[in-house]
Amino acid sequence: ANASEPGRPLAGRHAVVTAGPTFEPIDPVRGLTNRSSGKQGYAVAGALAALGARVTLVSGPVAIAAPAGVERVWAETAREMQAAVDKALPADIAVMSAAVADWRVDGVASGKIKKAPGGPPSLSLIENPDILAGVSAAGKTRPSLVVGFAAETTDLEANARAKLSRKGCDWIVGNDVSEAVFGADANTVTLFTRDGAAESWPRQSKAEVARKLAARIADHFRT
Ligand code: CTP
Ligand code: CA
Repeated sequence: ANASEPGRPLAGRHAVVTAGPTFEPIDPVRGLTNRSSGKQGYAVAGALAALGARVTLVSGPVAIAAPAGVERVWAETAREMQAAVDKALPADIAVMSAAVADWRVDGVASGKIKKAPGGPPSLSLIENPDILAGVSAAGKTRPSLVVGFAAETTDLEANARAKLSRKGCDWIVGNDVSEAVFGADANTVTLFTRDGAAESWPRQSKAEVARKLAARIADHFRT
């Protein structure tokens, strides 16, 4: 496989994509999670594979089929997702689109917590590892292009740029979630790059956003 194959500019490249939410258990029957259908990340994985990349899709719990040509690895918690991503490296490309739960419960109960007259239990939370920041700082195994997502309800540009520099990634896809996005088929995004450029894409389907992002990634490796 090599990049001169017509229509397969990413042939010979390995991409790791995270998608979907994570689920952090409280006890055997309950948990904390995030809103994410996984649609955008799955579409990105499929679009990269369609351009010839070998794709490892590290997926939180979602109910969608893996796109053609993509190797899917399941992860439930943020820590499992991080371990699966580390195991999938080295890669040329990382696209971290998962909605990772920021916190997990400290001291998961081994049995079901029962309702009690004393009132509801207090949950003690601890912060999960930041998978994107970890991949961006991976040293020798750092993918040469690391792309994050930022879902924001306000101040998209400022928040996305702050995340880009804080996490050390190369590009960030800023996602305006003030309009319907979760579970929807369309998305409104702006691509921010480390050199200060911003590209706003019109509201379009998640499949189109994915194809456009995959094409931009292929361009990046062409030059
Ligand atoms: N991310 C990650 N691991 C985490 C949290 C976030 O890999 N523990 C990644 C997401 O996949 C996404 C990017 O970081 O690509 C931004 O996620 P976001 O939740 O917007 O950023 P946070 O730093 O968690 O900030 P916020 O307080 O806005 O949630
Ligand atoms: Ca977060």
